[in-house]
Amino acid sequence: MSARPWWRDAVIYQVYPRSFADANGDGLGDLPGIISRLAYLAALGIDAIWVSPFYTSPQHDAGYDVADFRDVDPRFGNLADADALIAGAHERGLKVLFDIVPNHTSSEHRWWQEVLRSGPGSEAWDRYIIRASDDGPPNNWNSIFHGPAWSKLVTADGVDTGYWYLHLFDSTQPDVNWENDEVREEFADILRFWFDRGVDGFRIDVAHGMVKDPALPNVDYAKMRQAELLGSSPEAPYWDQEGVHDIYREWRRIADSYDPPRIFCGETWAPSPERLALYQRPDELHTSFNFDYLKAGWDRQAVQRSVANTLLHHAKVGAPPTWVLSNHDVVRHRTRLAPGFYPQDRHCRPDEVRGLARARALTLFTLALPGSTYLYQGEELGLVEVFDIPDAAREDPAWHRSQGEDLGRDGCRVPLPWSGDAPSYGFNSGTASWLPQPPSWATLCAQAQDGLGDSTLEFYRAALRLRRARSLGESALEWWDTDGDLLAFRRASDTPLMCVINFGDAPAILPSGTVEIASMADAVTADHLLAGESCIWMTPS
Ligand code: GLC
Repeated sequence: MSARPWWRDAVIYQVYPRSFADANGDGLGDLPGIISRLAYLAALGIDAIWVSPFYTSPQHDAGYDVADFRDVDPRFGNLADADALIAGAHERGLKVLFDIVPNHTSSEHRWWQEVLRSGPGSEAWDRYIIRASDDGPPNNWNSIFHGPAWSKLVTADGVDTGYWYLHLFDSTQPDVNWENDEVREEFADILRFWFDRGVDGFRIDVAHGMVKDPALPNVDYAKMRQAELLGSSPEAPYWDQEGVHDIYREWRRIADSYDPPRIFCGETWAPSPERLALYQRPDELHTSFNFDYLKAGWDRQAVQRSVANTLLHHAKVGAPPTWVLSNHDVVRHRTRLAPGFYPQDRHCRPDEVRGLARARALTLFTLALPGSTYLYQGEELGLVEVFDIPDAAREDPAWHRSQGEDLGRDGCRVPLPWSGDAPSYGFNSGTASWLPQPPSWATLCAQAQDGLGDSTLEFYRAALRLRRARSLGESALEWWDTDGDLLAFRRASDTPLMCVINFGDAPAILPSGTVEIASMADAVTADHLLAGESCIWMTPS
């Protein structure tokens, strides 16, 4: 038995409940659905699951608009199902992370309902960010989902109060005021509520956003866009403010008071790997998502730079890095990495065959890195982003608030195909699914890939098996001197492992050694060359 804490090099699989498995056949996934597929997850070879929100919610932002943090929305099940999910996962040796959403509540939360019945100076108003302003919104902040980040505060009886409330996301997601003690106590209590029920930790939603610059200064959006174009997450008076670290110091004390200690992973869009690492100081969060890596794309230099910077800055605070390529907010990486993919162009036709080759190659590369890795449900099936969702079926508030200009995130949230050749492809026992599933789900479903030598599902199983067997942990990564399109490194574990990826199209010369696993069946040619757009792990000789 290793004494290394489990989370330092875990593979954590994101379950997006509404699209994972649907036990009651209403077209929306649910907790009993997840429980029915725990055996599949355990057999995949992961260490833990992170479950996106299933709490009571009007579902204006797919559950990230929470009305009651201590209960399960009836559409997903009930508290007994949540307990059964934790217990069932534990029985199979899987840890469980839930998802806490501390930046905002739903407008159906009792606190916001109290706001609508109260007035300026009330305790209720102090729990949110509410400002008076006669001539339009208090500042120029935009919502992440488009349009202004402020809406007029109109009381329950329809009276315009002359005040505005802040919502960095949808207008049904008012931002809470983290300067308020009751807010701090309430969220500490919510953590304890779920920790007491046995959950192993939390993914923290918008973990870099809870504290705002109190002066609420205007934002220079032109400068922000420039930063985005240059590939960094922009600085803003509502992101990555110093005060947010105090919150995590308090949360860490709560997590550490449990036996075994509970853990956190922040959804932290920090402006640089250096800023990101600050969240992982020993008395703060255990880990945070490393979006710099996700954004590096299919680009040898960007990938190497991101890995090197991430390792450097995490080492300074003694924390393990995390790696992620897909989640419920971004275009699936099989599509995103494909030639012919253009963001926001629903008519683009990415090369899905090369997209799959690149996705499998970068996944294999990622799984060889030190630290922990997050997988997003369906990537193990090689699922693609779905573009041709009818407008009427789209639910993402970003789509609605931009009047359809922003395609939004529905394309990566289409319900999973498990079996069969017609909707719902085993998502439930009938035909319903909250977003329409494309015909390609017939060949991509888990049943069609099960036991099939070169399927993406079997590739993931094999890679995860080997990763576990090699117990790579956090052992040092040494770059192998390559040029051109190859990128390679060696992991100094008991049995050294070499990982080599070819970002180019042409075959390239491999170092000598025994190939342990390849991203594609034809990745290594007879004369020991590594084919373009592929990756291998080898034992060097
Ligand atoms: C996070 C979630 C996203 C949600 C947003 C607002 O970014 O991942 O899905 O819409 O926060 O809660």
